[in-house]
Amino acid sequence: MACEVEVLFTLAELRAWRESAERGVPAPGESKMPTPRAGALRSSSVILPHEERAGSSRESSLSRTTCVVFDVLRATSTIVTALAAGAAGVLPVEEIAEAVDWRRRRPDALLAGERGGLRIGAALTGGPEFDLGNSPREFTAARVAGRFIVITTTNGTRALGGCAGAAEIVVGSFLNLSATVPHLQSRRREKICLVCAGTNEGAALEDALAAGALCDRLKSIEPETELRDSAALARHAFLHARENLAEAISRTRHARRLLSLPELHDDVAFCLRQDACDLVAVSEADNVLRRQT
Ligand code: MLT
Repeated sequence: MACEVEVLFTLAELRAWRESAERGVPAPGESKMPTPRAGALRSSSVILPHEERAGSSRESSLSRTTCVVFDVLRATSTIVTALAAGAAGVLPVEEIAEAVDWRRRRPDALLAGERGGLRIGAALTGGPEFDLGNSPREFTAARVAGRFIVITTTNGTRALGGCAGAAEIVVGSFLNLSATVPHLQSRRREKICLVCAGTNEGAALEDALAAGALCDRLKSIEPETELRDSAALARHAFLHARENLAEAISRTRHARRLLSLPELHDDVAFCLRQDACDLVAVSEADNVLRRQT
């Protein structure tokens, strides 16, 4: 069975996709045509439009989907870096209060994350300072090896949380792109959904390009992979930009903000080091992201 790949570019799209998958109804823009009756005449060479659309709604079911989440600048790059540096696990949470609560339950936990790009301090927690921000360069072996980390970021950890209930949640980034491809292939899922965390409520080019790079790898290795229009769009964008990825990304809104801050400037180049980390990061039953290979 050919795997179908879809890309969601914003958190709003993720919410809409989730809602439709949970209700078992077509996502916005998909047909509401009924599923064809069992035994209805089928042609082996022609897919009728209503069959294709009914199939789309069936396959949007979360439990048959692998989600790969991208927040290239910077949350998923940071998580991959932390695991490469030997962190025991990274728990993504959406709210600052949840992270602070984890500190009470697990005093050994390191708290990490940002708001407005900057490390979370006492002004936002009403108490403890976070140990780390969201700069991947902070997550060295000396700081994180063997440690359990709780992280909350503006978009990245919300995107990870929004995939709850999927068959598998994988952490995507340019850093571990090549390692992630064979993992996805070995799972042989019906559907792969590439979830771009974006910036605030909007899309982010850097996430779309990383998703496009993954689409390109999957399609090149298995030509029968079915790229939905969103995936084809991301792939085209990647192929167009691939020779000058760093330049294209340095012009994005979020990159420009990071580049303007001396202490975060180098994060942009750090996050674009393709295949610097040979690891697959997956969410386990306790929602903790751990290294698989
Ligand atoms: C996020 O989760 O929104 C980002 O990772 C923001 C950042 O660069 O810190």
